[in-house]
Amino acid sequence: MKPVRCDRTPAWGELTACLEAGGRNFDLRDAFARDPGRFEAFSQDAPHVFADLSKNLIDAGSQALLLALARQCGLEQQRDAMFAGERINRTENRAVMHFLLRNPPSAQYLPAQAAINKIADAQAEVEVTLDAMLAYAEQVRADEAITDIVNIGIGGSDLGPQMAVLALAEFATSGKRIHFVSNIDGNELASVLKQLKPAGTLFLVASKTFTTTETMTNAHSAKDWFEAQGGQDIARHFAALTTNVAAANDFGITTTFGFWDWVGGRYSLWSAIGLPIAIAIGAAGFRQFLAGAHAMDEHFRTAALEGNLPVRLGLLDVWYRNFHGFSSRSIAPYSSALRRWPAYLQQLEMESNGKRVDQDGQPLPFDTSPVLWGEPGTNGQHAYFQMLHQGTTVVPVEFVAVKQAAHAPDDLPGHHGKLLANVLAQAQALMHGKRDAAGPPQGNAAPSGGSEPHAVGERGGSMFSGGHRDFPGNRPSTFLLLERLTPASLGALIALQEHRVFVSGAIWGINSFDQWGVELGKVLARDIEPRLLSGDVSGLDGSTAGLLRKLGSGPA
Ligand code: F6P
Repeated sequence: MKPVRCDRTPAWGELTACLEAGGRNFDLRDAFARDPGRFEAFSQDAPHVFADLSKNLIDAGSQALLLALARQCGLEQQRDAMFAGERINRTENRAVMHFLLRNPPSAQYLPAQAAINKIADAQAEVEVTLDAMLAYAEQVRADEAITDIVNIGIGGSDLGPQMAVLALAEFATSGKRIHFVSNIDGNELASVLKQLKPAGTLFLVASKTFTTTETMTNAHSAKDWFEAQGGQDIARHFAALTTNVAAANDFGITTTFGFWDWVGGRYSLWSAIGLPIAIAIGAAGFRQFLAGAHAMDEHFRTAALEGNLPVRLGLLDVWYRNFHGFSSRSIAPYSSALRRWPAYLQQLEMESNGKRVDQDGQPLPFDTSPVLWGEPGTNGQHAYFQMLHQGTTVVPVEFVAVKQAAHAPDDLPGHHGKLLANVLAQAQALMHGKRDAAGPPQGNAAPSGGSEPHAVGERGGSMFSGGHRDFPGNRPSTFLLLERLTPASLGALIALQEHRVFVSGAIWGINSFDQWGVELGKVLARDIEPRLLSGDVSGLDGSTAGLLRKLGSGPA
């Protein structure tokens, strides 16, 4: 059955009608006042993650329509096609099977279509590679002469491993320093090389394609440095993580760990690309990481849509993007260990769903990926939360909080309680706003109007209160809560996001698994680079030519 694009379903029109009939004026404060059971109705447990969705602009009616939309778009069939190994990445004619990387060897569920697609064979290869990769990780961990690991990779070959290594620092028992070099700006590699000695360093060249300019440039420079410093034994000091083992061999690297074209770059941290994570937390920890993700896979694959957390989040994303018109989502992890979480999610969601045509290549008459942005709380509170509370634009916020501190609480008493108080307070403030004594808060329906400023002074010696001090409230947020940030809970949290991106992409009828939009700039850079030396501006637009002239023929 061919999936139906969302805007061609009856539910799409019904959702529009629902919004016009009152959904646009939905008020969270009234919703809680009306329904004492709202928290229970709009929150749920999923593996390793508790989610409170009750502070979102939904009610039973809109949620039912969103679920109808999912069914009318064939979401369940699209999900099952992925798990059956169908080639759902149509523009690249590839299956999408990152879930297989975290399947336990005992996985039994293979549906009939999976047999045709030879999933069991693929899984057998996964297990062999995983065993080899984890054995190597343990060998490196035990090798006292190796003090520094340098991961050279970019995009999915950097963001996921880097985010996870930082997130799981509490579990990092290897005693190794792990560095990440991604940018082609030589300053990044230079500042890491300064800290290294060749005999103590293991370079991991992480690249699915083994062609990416940034990674290849950094890898060549690292190899040159290694040899110039008297380093010997490339086989011991360089390993490649790639689907293109032949190119790695040509580069001179013989220690290689492979993966497959059915693993998208931004979904690859479960594969050999996860080697830095495995070196940091060990083989057993990495298996727990996979197990947490697998638990979320099973939840997504089997739970009824009504209680399926990735589905509920993905539908909320569609509701906000296409009906409320919210163009961004702010990511607020209240955990400094999750400080790269927003950057990681940016690639996952915006590279997956930043698409303007449907699966058939037809332009879409509706919006797709929102902009994702954010910083760890509480830092964000002292930067852009002003705009979240009082700006003219409504930005749904996604909080992540962790019940148990990642540090020993007795060593630093009070910190974690203050952190948790802040995340609860921010979610509360966004919803409640502040009903200033001098006037009622302004709802989201009239975001830019504000109340007339009125002279006051009773809350602190300013000339004005009124509009300046009003918080409109009714600003939506989602609250994800982990008991503790562990390999398993992080795995589940990541898989939750992967599947939620799948859900919105499936509803929109786009291909979430290609990324043609990154190609044009790469091609143009290849044309421009020699012009920096030659000064040739022929055929260029006036601005690029002008900037090239300004740069002269200096950079080497
Ligand atoms: O430029 C985008 C991209 O292709 C990403 O999708 C990918 O994660 C990244 O580049 C790195 O690619 P590779 O792992 O092949 O070096």
